[in-house]
Amino acid sequence: MTRPKIVLTDPVHPEVVRQVLGPRCEVVVATSRTRLMGELKTADALITLLSDSVDESLLRHAPRLRALGNFAVGVNNIDLNACRTRGIRVVNTPGVLTRATAELTIALLFAAARRIPEGDRMCRGGKWKGWAPDQLLGQDLRGRHALIVGRGRIGSEAGRLMQALGLKLEYITRKDTARQVLMKLARAQVLSLHLPLTAETHHWLNRTRISALPEDAIVINTTRGPVIDEKALIQALRSRKIFSAGLDVYEREPRIPLALRKLPQVVLLPHLGSATAETRAAMARLVTTGVLGILGGKRVPNEVEFGV
Ligand code: 8YV
Repeated sequence: MTRPKIVLTDPVHPEVVRQVLGPRCEVVVATSRTRLMGELKTADALITLLSDSVDESLLRHAPRLRALGNFAVGVNNIDLNACRTRGIRVVNTPGVLTRATAELTIALLFAAARRIPEGDRMCRGGKWKGWAPDQLLGQDLRGRHALIVGRGRIGSEAGRLMQALGLKLEYITRKDTARQVLMKLARAQVLSLHLPLTAETHHWLNRTRISALPEDAIVINTTRGPVIDEKALIQALRSRKIFSAGLDVYEREPRIPLALRKLPQVVLLPHLGSATAETRAAMARLVTTGVLGILGGKRVPNEVEFGV
């Protein structure tokens, strides 16, 4: 029996890939688009990163493809309609990265509230002249009002961690009217975004909503950059309309606007939400076993449902 061919756009996690896929499949890593298109001609499955765009223009090179595994929980990089039309089943990595991403949300919150990168830069730059009562004053977190947008796995876990720190929690729900959203935003000293990126959530945090935030607000984004209108956020931070932001994601990754990089109070990370050794191994295991399951004609728990 011929072994199914699985193409990966990145080695992802060589050890797990070797263990799970090695004995059963032909594994090919194709890091360039040209090589990928060539390899896809005879591929049964494809494993992609969140930075790979999977659309009709790619899938038309993959006539045999039956399974697609995204090494991420977000699937905004995949044209799900195109997959459905072609009968390609899709898996992602839900659950295993929930805690790591929620913890990074809290790390960004602490870093922004207590101005940790500013302090770090002061020390490294030899600019620290000694202790001073008014040096780099931040914010207490206990008792502050936090608003979580998106009550899925990661939003709920980030909420639990914030509650443990003594923040007062509120959530945006689907039932909230536009006016209720603005009222909740006006109380949000911490605003944490956890919506998946879709056509509906693109620029969810727009100019109008940003201007509803209080002056001491900290905005945290560990979902996808385009959920925020980055230009509007930069303007609010520049003119000190809000206190700070902790960002792990950007509108056009890996590009981070210079205007954002110049703002000292903002904390910027290079999309590290799930970046722990344990989590990345678990993601690799989940995506590879999911793809194998599909190739074996099985039901798999991490299959992405195509909406109606
Ligand atoms: C993130 C992710 O790192 O899996 C995804 O879709 O992007 C996560 O791994 C996180 O959401 C960004 O902080």
